[in-house]
Amino acid sequence: MSARIAVYPGSFDPIHNGHLDIIARCRPIFDEVVVAVLRNEEKRPLFSVEERTEMVAELVGGDGFCRVESFSGLLVEFMERIGARTIVRGLRAVSDFEYEFQMALMNRRLNPRVETVFMMPREDYSYLSSRIVKEVFGFGGDLAGLVPPTVLDRLSGRLGRRDPPA
Ligand code: PNS
Repeated sequence: MSARIAVYPGSFDPIHNGHLDIIARCRPIFDEVVVAVLRNEEKRPLFSVEERTEMVAELVGGDGFCRVESFSGLLVEFMERIGARTIVRGLRAVSDFEYEFQMALMNRRLNPRVETVFMMPREDYSYLSSRIVKEVFGFGGDLAGLVPPTVLDRLSGRLGRRDPPA
């Protein structure tokens, strides 16, 4: 039987505990997870694709189960190159559904052999997104337990930090 390779794609700008929770949930189901970091410099991410890839690799790379790669262009073409047929996406709330549904069906149209599997992160992370992480961090909010310390360090280096309001 061929290895069950899952691709977990995203911007990961930056990775947070909700993403890590989804990767952990893949362990009993797949033989390997490839975290695929989108090269989307035109969207002006806070971190370059190299930095985002490095952050993910620091947290989950190197144990034989999870590897990290960057990609540009169509996700299904990247998957073809690495021989993967399953996309994993996290579904936090009903509001995610419409966008995810569109993407899943478009990817299936582009390559009918590709399936998308949705996983729900731990409830504590159901409101967490990279956008909210950057915003809360920028205003000095507490992100303990939501973002790994190495990512908090990188955020400090990039955004600085305002004091919380008195
Ligand atoms: O974390 P994000 O930003 O919601 O991830 C979005 C991502 C990377 C999964 C999506 O933008 C993507 O797959 N981009 C690659 C281009 C592509 O294949 N588009 C067709 C699917 S609609």
